[in-house]
Amino acid sequence: MTMLQRLALPPRTEAASAPAAPERMQALIERTLELDRHVQRRARADLAALPELALAPDARAALGPKYPARAFAYLEELDRGDDDAPAAEAALLDEAARYFRGAIRPQSPHSLFNMVPEPSVEATAAAWLATAYNANSLMDAFGGEALLIEQQVARKIGRWAGWPQAMGISCNGGKFTIMYAIKSALSRIAPESIRDGLPRDLVILCSEGAHYCVEHAASLLGLGSGRCLRVPSGSDGRMRPDALRRMLDEQHAQGRRVAAIVCCGGTTINFNCEDAREVREIADAFARERKLPARPYLHLDSVIGWLYLSLLDADEAQLRERVPDPRSRARIAEVLRRLRGVDGFDSLGVDFHKDGLCPYASSFFVARDRRFMDELGDGSYRYGEQDFQYGQFRAYRYTFENSRPGQGILAAWMNLRRLGRAGYGDYLAGLHQARDALADALQRHGLFRVLNRASLGWELVFEAPFAPDLLALAPSRQDLALGFMQECWDRVNAGYDLPLFSIVPGYRIDNDPDAVTTGFLLYPMQQRSDAQWDRAVALIAAQFHDFQARLRAQPRALSASAFEKPIR
Ligand SMILES: Cc1ncc(COP(=O)(O)O)c(C=O)c1O
Repeated sequence: MTMLQRLALPPRTEAASAPAAPERMQALIERTLELDRHVQRRARADLAALPELALAPDARAALGPKYPARAFAYLEELDRGDDDAPAAEAALLDEAARYFRGAIRPQSPHSLFNMVPEPSVEATAAAWLATAYNANSLMDAFGGEALLIEQQVARKIGRWAGWPQAMGISCNGGKFTIMYAIKSALSRIAPESIRDGLPRDLVILCSEGAHYCVEHAASLLGLGSGRCLRVPSGSDGRMRPDALRRMLDEQHAQGRRVAAIVCCGGTTINFNCEDAREVREIADAFARERKLPARPYLHLDSVIGWLYLSLLDADEAQLRERVPDPRSRARIAEVLRRLRGVDGFDSLGVDFHKDGLCPYASSFFVARDRRFMDELGDGSYRYGEQDFQYGQFRAYRYTFENSRPGQGILAAWMNLRRLGRAGYGDYLAGLHQARDALADALQRHGLFRVLNRASLGWELVFEAPFAPDLLALAPSRQDLALGFMQECWDRVNAGYDLPLFSIVPGYRIDNDPDAVTTGFLLYPMQQRSDAQWDRAVALIAAQFHDFQARLRAQPRALSASAFEKPIR
């Protein structure tokens, strides 16, 4: 049948036509519930089939922090015969259940592995609706007002940072925010590179404690990971000012141009955060003294630290009222002090899926102005006033994607409007309170020692007291710690409801390179009762005692292990 014949067909009768919108929505809801019931049923069945754990007899009572996993080898699975026949309903439901096997369940109180929160119902439902309506936010002719809301999110966060003209890009993850920043910087310092490719004299700098993806971002952009140089940090987790200035001068002396300085605006562990004003002054002085046409582009990787911007307008008295607990307040006040100079930066990153109570992925690259729209283009178009009339706005000219999901835009906007700036400030204060409550629980129990008292974040790094005779058995403390960690992970992967926490090899206590040990990480993402924290600590302790007792009774060789890209 030709397209024209199809178009000429008479309208179908009501019964045979596609369901009207509300019916379709009802069908979607029912199908989702059906899938969910099956996923839960399968997970519970797997859990019930596990043997009881002597050290935690209740650990099969409810689903744990992970859907029960199975071990497999990817290449073997892929080599298995493929079935191209349409799947029956039961098989289809099983496939959906299989998808979640081994996945973290952030809704579990024992999900303490990393900054993985349970997103709010409001944000998740809104994101879900955007999926159901299948909106494409590449341009407003397709995505409608989603593109305005995207800019309203960026403008709102930008205003918190002190940028009244801020605009931005909704994107799939913090790594993209860094890529947008680096690409803007490369185009700014070498505009001809947009058409001709990158010259060989460009480098970027970033803090020693910056996320491991910065080098990969540089590589993906064609700059090269080796052109990303890390500036040594001091004990407070900031780039050492003398080191920053020295590296800027060294690069200049070698005939290289520093396109950007990617600064830490809070990291997962130790919350490494630059003093924004100090960095800016150093970059300004460098450019002035070297008579450069412009200072290096300054990006704040605040995919975690953006949340603190919600309190940046609070004076001392207001902060005392908003964050009554002195321990939390001291940490927050120091971060706010360091962030105060961000108004002089060029861009920052925001991950609403980390600490904005939104589902994945809801990141925003936020820039102080809209120059990025040209800098991220292919050189064939310049944005002008005409682009900002409804019906004319096209994001695809400057985004990595062409077709683009809009879920993150609506999720972020729902939470920003629902909670308001004050609500996000309260959420931050609550996270710090949760940290203190968990630290208190560790203290009450007495077995473990909190290592990261100097951290400005709300994570907890603690040390386990391995016995000297067992330490002597292992190639190193790290290998012993990893042996213990692996056992804990194996139980959680099997499906047991036990705390899912993590390991921090080479943890520098107070950022001191001479005080390195292997720590363990707990990431509280919401406040729990003291009893719940006590129970989580007791369950870790029970596993620790069990590990040591069995190792002593049946000594076994612990292998030396290497770590790639640990949480940092
Ligand atoms: C400081 C920092 N920057 C960037 C990233 C990368 O973000 P994403 O995983 O959303 O791409 C992370 C992730 O943990 C991070 O902590």
